[in-house]
Amino acid sequence: MSATQLSPLLFPLLRQLSDGKFHSGQALAQHYQLSRSTVFNLIQQADKLGLRIHAVHGRGYRLVDEMSWLDLQDLRTRLLAVGQDYLIHAQDQIDSTNSALFAQALAGAPHRSVLYADYQYAGRGRRGRSWQAPPGGGLAFSVLWRFEQGVNQLSGLSVVIGLALARALAQCCPAIEKLPVKIKWPNDVLAGYRKLAGVLVEAQGEMDGPSFAVIGIGVNQRLPARFREEIDQAVVDMDEMGARVNRAEVMAVILTELSTAMAEFARTGMRSALQEWPRWHAHEGRQVMLRSPDGTSHGGLVSGLDQAGNLLLKMPDGSIRQFGAGEVSLRPLP
Ligand code: BTN
Repeated sequence: MSATQLSPLLFPLLRQLSDGKFHSGQALAQHYQLSRSTVFNLIQQADKLGLRIHAVHGRGYRLVDEMSWLDLQDLRTRLLAVGQDYLIHAQDQIDSTNSALFAQALAGAPHRSVLYADYQYAGRGRRGRSWQAPPGGGLAFSVLWRFEQGVNQLSGLSVVIGLALARALAQCCPAIEKLPVKIKWPNDVLAGYRKLAGVLVEAQGEMDGPSFAVIGIGVNQRLPARFREEIDQAVVDMDEMGARVNRAEVMAVILTELSTAMAEFARTGMRSALQEWPRWHAHEGRQVMLRSPDGTSHGGLVSGLDQAGNLLLKMPDGSIRQFGAGEVSLRPLP
């Protein structure tokens, strides 16, 4: 699905349609001071995004599925209640929250800035992939974390963040036996071996510090079939897992877990992450294949992580080799 910027008028319209009731084209046109044909075009844009719209002659339009929006005030109240200090901005749409927050970081944005968007038209994933979700379909935000230390001391950070995200989502999603929340190294969050959420960490800074990381988090909340078809891996969303939690709640839990994990990382480095890892890793103790973009591949037995968050593989000759997350992809062997 080619991602393009949406009409800014679509967002208030979708919010209005989110109550599950019918709204006539005429009432919508009057309310937003638009022509009936503009309203019709906006409805078509929503339909193209895979949002299911029920149109009934004489009654108007209704969104079939309830849509989830972020209540920023609710989020701020929840974070305040647990003593979490974040500076949060929310927008209807943006190219990528990571790209935008990275630019803001270079321009001096403060530590613990958060940028949320209802829709990213050029969302980015790891290893040069795109990350796509329609409004209401995915939760997408980025967090700026500043460090005294240099970038070379941040290795392992993406594993630490993956663990924090998995812990948060396991809290939000009811325990479904067939869909336990796990991690695929380094930080894909899976449920039932299908992808539920991903993390894109982009760091920059001096070798001896200071440095910063922009931590991008994307969670599948309710992905329409049309979007799923475009994704080249098995996916799962929170809706399917029976987790109909509001966005403010999910974000508050993630931001709180992130904060705890970062404090622990600052205090003890990778110590507690390494202890926790084996019980979260979906492929621990299993035979996997690692593939690099240059076509080379290595098969071996997953044997934990080293201090820098590199994956350790026991090779067929019995030796242990370490692999950095960078550009390598991991596939379990049957
Ligand atoms: C992956 O699993 O490939 C990482 C996905 C990261 C997606 C998030 S959504 C918010 C932030 N902005 C982006 O453009 N990407 C990250």
